[in-house]
Amino acid sequence: TTFKVGYLIGSLAKDSINRKLAIALTRVAPEHLEFMEIPIKDLPLYSYDYDAAYPAVASAFKEAIAAVDAVLFVTPEYNRSIPGGLKNAIDWASRPYGKNSFTRKPSAVIGTSPGAIGTAVAQQQLRSVLSFCNSPQMNAPEAYIQFTPGLITNEGEVTNESTAKFLRDYMAEFHQFIIRVYTALPRDA
Ligand code: FNR
Repeated sequence: TTFKVGYLIGSLAKDSINRKLAIALTRVAPEHLEFMEIPIKDLPLYSYDYDAAYPAVASAFKEAIAAVDAVLFVTPEYNRSIPGGLKNAIDWASRPYGKNSFTRKPSAVIGTSPGAIGTAVAQQQLRSVLSFCNSPQMNAPEAYIQFTPGLITNEGEVTNESTAKFLRDYMAEFHQFIIRVYTALPRDA
């Protein structure tokens, strides 16, 4: 079985190091995972005033999440938390009340920063948010990637073999986690 994985990049920056990491992850992942980016950058700021009629960009965003079997969050840490744009996207997906797109949707969290703790604090906060959104999360392995210049090329090639192996193992574990989630609970249940 092939599983579709939608990935959300927490950064809107053109030269985002987290985008490089996301591309690298798609390159080292098991072949039975199929990837698509679910973009967040064109979403307006969420308000429940939109609940009665979502704008097209937000409906498309929710449909994109509905269309995938699992979600991978690749996020920077901004001021020891997740970027506002990513939180905004999650808020859109979680609403209207009763139509939370993350319910029962398996997820995993990863991120990179030039700093030594490699987005650890942001990832913990993101895990809290995803818990509330009822997404079954891969608990381990955790992945805090310290970005050094040239570690990952724009094409997603990882230049350090031990990092490449770590990322390959991480994606292999995510694949196994997705299989376990859907073995316990069929996709159409
Ligand atoms: C940062 N940066 C940062 N890094 C970190 O490890 N912990 C932090 O709390 C912060 N805070 C922070 C706030 C803001 C507003 C910015 C713009 C940056 C540095 C950050 O890790 C660096 O800019 C990365 O390049 C961000 O990842 P992307 O956006 O390039 O994927």
